[in-house]
Amino acid sequence: MDPISYAFPPEFIFGAATSAYQIEGGRSDDGKGLSIWDVFCDQPGHIEAGDTGDMACDHYHRFAADVALMRQLGLKGYRFSVSWPRVLPQGRGAANPAGLDFYDRLVDALLAAGIEPNLTLYHWDLPQALELLGGWRNRDVAGWFADYASLMGKHLGDRVRLWATHNEPWCTAFFAHSQGGFAPGLKLPDKQVYQVVHHILLSHGKAVSALRAAAPKPPRVGIAWNLAPIVPEGPGDLEAARRAWEFENAWWLDPVFKGRYPRLGWEQRGSDVPEVLPGDLEQISQPLDWVGQNYYFPIRYQDDPSAGPAKARKIAVPPSAPQSDWGWEVRPDGLLTLLGEFTRRYGKMPTYITENGYCRFKESVGPDGRVHDTARLDYLRRHLKACRAALDGGADLRGYYAWSLLDNFEWSSGYKPQFGLVHVDRGTQARTPKDSALWYRDTIAQRGFSDRREDLQDLLAPGGILRP
Ligand code: FCB
Repeated sequence: MDPISYAFPPEFIFGAATSAYQIEGGRSDDGKGLSIWDVFCDQPGHIEAGDTGDMACDHYHRFAADVALMRQLGLKGYRFSVSWPRVLPQGRGAANPAGLDFYDRLVDALLAAGIEPNLTLYHWDLPQALELLGGWRNRDVAGWFADYASLMGKHLGDRVRLWATHNEPWCTAFFAHSQGGFAPGLKLPDKQVYQVVHHILLSHGKAVSALRAAAPKPPRVGIAWNLAPIVPEGPGDLEAARRAWEFENAWWLDPVFKGRYPRLGWEQRGSDVPEVLPGDLEQISQPLDWVGQNYYFPIRYQDDPSAGPAKARKIAVPPSAPQSDWGWEVRPDGLLTLLGEFTRRYGKMPTYITENGYCRFKESVGPDGRVHDTARLDYLRRHLKACRAALDGGADLRGYYAWSLLDNFEWSSGYKPQFGLVHVDRGTQARTPKDSALWYRDTIAQRGFSDRREDLQDLLAPGGILRP
């Protein structure tokens, strides 16, 4: 066998990720309350082909077999989310013992299989009962979220070490409250959206404190961002890309890591800025134990003095660029740029790639019983090369979670985009590991893989190089 040219440290977590609404099903089983996604999917026209997560991957009933599958693949870590309305049907108040029991059994099964759980508290499925009280528009949501965090910390904090408060809070705010394509489907004026952002940030900070107070063992708490992964279009666009990066990302990051909103961004948003009460920013900026970065594709920017506050213009992806069936450009160097910019601004932190993956449409099991997903395998391999380059560049990268373990419910696009390492037959629920999953299994077993070295240099984009 070839020597391993891309080797990873023994403690590096090779994992896969999912989220509750996208895989669980069991919509009203055993006392679960409705979430905003249950309600949103019920309304015609919201989801492609009228799909819903009512059944999804039926993971609620099949979790034991799914954990066995993870074990066969040799996964070291599994990132999943808790369905808030499954454990608190009304969002607050009385807990649902059967819901808590489900996550107990899941966590126990993972630990028995030697797989480290990484639990996300909020992956978009707010209890509908709280939405009726104003949801993320109501400042009280921060307290409700902290109480929920405390319940979970008390319950699972003896066994779960890695916790994330939010998944991709930008999507919670903008897709769901500004663009209206995600539940609860609102199109609010910017002023109200920035208030929603502030409530999400506040809920994050309160949940961090609540988890630390409640968990029987010290939890390691983080958050999974979807930062705008801006890359310069050409070598002359580096400064423009950095300005755009600042404009897009600092609004979220500065409050959490610096305890203040960015001055420039505050001025640029004029009267749309949120109401911030004394003490909020101290609460929001609790020190974190780790940071999660979800990365799929880059956003190209070019210098343009006439273009908006950042004086930078977004460039369309050239049709010739490699991309997924969804049009997401394949650029592993964007991952390095993202980590590099983050580190340059906020310092070095323990980091996990909490999501990264590649989608295809109409993927099915072939006559040979296999799914030859060569493009996904290549995407996975090239992004792991980028992870290795990040480690070489001095990043404190602790793990990588492929999105996703299973083909699953992809929000407003329904089941059309398939991101799974494992194919799920929509009729029979049969699971078939794709070629990418088999390659990942071998990679995990060897803690690395062999491949040509030459494109490593290409991964180090201008300005994307990490300084040790
Ligand atoms: C991310 C989401 C995840 C999944 C992937 C494809 O934005 O966190 O749930 O939809 O994209």
